[in-house]
Amino acid sequence: MKLTTTFATLAALLPFALGQSAEWGQCGGIGWTGPTTCVSGTVCTVLNPYFSQCLPGSSSSAPPTTTTSSSSPTSTAPTSTATGLNKLAQAAGKKYFGTATDNSELTNKAYTAILDNKSEFGQLTAANSMKWDATEPSRGDFTFSSGDQIANLAKANGQLLRGHNCVWYNQLPSWVSSGGFSAAQLTSVIQTHCSTLLTHYKGQAYAWDVVNEPFNDDGTWRSDVFYNTLGTSYVQIALEAARAADPGAKLYINEYNIEYTGAKATALLSLAKSLLAAGVPLDGIGFQCHFIVGQVPTSLQTVMQQFTALGLEVAITELDIRMTLPATNALLAQQETDYENVVKACMNVKGCVGITVWDFTDEYSWVPGTFSGQGEACPWNQNLQKKPAYSGITAAL
Ligand code: G3I
Repeated sequence: MKLTTTFATLAALLPFALGQSAEWGQCGGIGWTGPTTCVSGTVCTVLNPYFSQCLPGSSSSAPPTTTTSSSSPTSTAPTSTATGLNKLAQAAGKKYFGTATDNSELTNKAYTAILDNKSEFGQLTAANSMKWDATEPSRGDFTFSSGDQIANLAKANGQLLRGHNCVWYNQLPSWVSSGGFSAAQLTSVIQTHCSTLLTHYKGQAYAWDVVNEPFNDDGTWRSDVFYNTLGTSYVQIALEAARAADPGAKLYINEYNIEYTGAKATALLSLAKSLLAAGVPLDGIGFQCHFIVGQVPTSLQTVMQQFTALGLEVAITELDIRMTLPATNALLAQQETDYENVVKACMNVKGCVGITVWDFTDEYSWVPGTFSGQGEACPWNQNLQKKPAYSGITAAL
């Protein structure tokens, strides 16, 4: 067979009749062994030699065609999948595609070979080592060595850094949560912490999650030492201290379950409006996006646009999509679709600056330790092999 044989010809020779792919599902590509026909109302479209997809269009059950995608290569040269997630994201106008990482993982050379690859990841977030318990375990005793390891790695790799985080109810040392501070004292404690933290990393962080998870799911304020002592003013106190310490960093509020329209998203939107109206320095909203396979919200793009309409930027800051184990081909295929749809939401919003996965491999995901019987939430598996989810991301990018 000549090397110049088109992929369409190769695909047409593959056996099919394995059922039909759903809208947005994969329907062909080198190495693909699933269905090669699409449900009615969609067309199997070759996006690149490795990935054909059921795109909305006139009804068809034909095998992949190379004629419907203007940007698709029609020869055999692999292009997009070879370039990496960050390169693809940047080529599509985003600032970065990034990942969380943790210090204990950095001794795994096979892992760091992927982590350090700027084609895949253009941004790092420290999953734990810049949090309050790690950076100020006792009052005034600041320790940055673990955080510095991540910051220095990002710098050495030419990757952006997202700082995570300044004020959060969790991983908060008891000297803060049970300190019995007055409002004035706690104000000073917050100011000192945020100021020292952001000053230490001044000029290194693209953005900081200054306030993390301030709301309950019903849209009421989370009852923690900050809210209980200072009311809502702690948000302004933290943001102002952060701005003064590192004027170049984008300052974010980072939250989960705001990807669904509802009380929590509405509460954050209302907070953002009032902070902006009062001239409080707020630049962005982080959508954590810890999702479940088959249950990815369809409202993500709409909610993001509600925030960008205020002049804020948004980012997907902690993406993973977990499943009930054991993983099956059907679950992995659904996860591929889910990753694609989430990334697409960011692609469709101009003010969505980037996407961060909450570690890229199942080997180091937080999910199994928190949700018993669940896992496989990341785009790389435990053996550092790319999963179908990776193709879902590249398809969206
Ligand atoms: O450092 C100790 C270690 O000394 C000890 O031996 C070990 C025993 O369990 O625990 C270690 O601490 C763990 C820490 O991660 C560092 O590995 C904690 O038990 C564990 O609870 C902690 O989990 C982190 C979790 O935040 C805590 O809330 C996850 O790694 C981290 O990925 C996760 O990240 C959060 C974001 O910050 C905010 N959004 C949700 C996201 C997922 O929960």
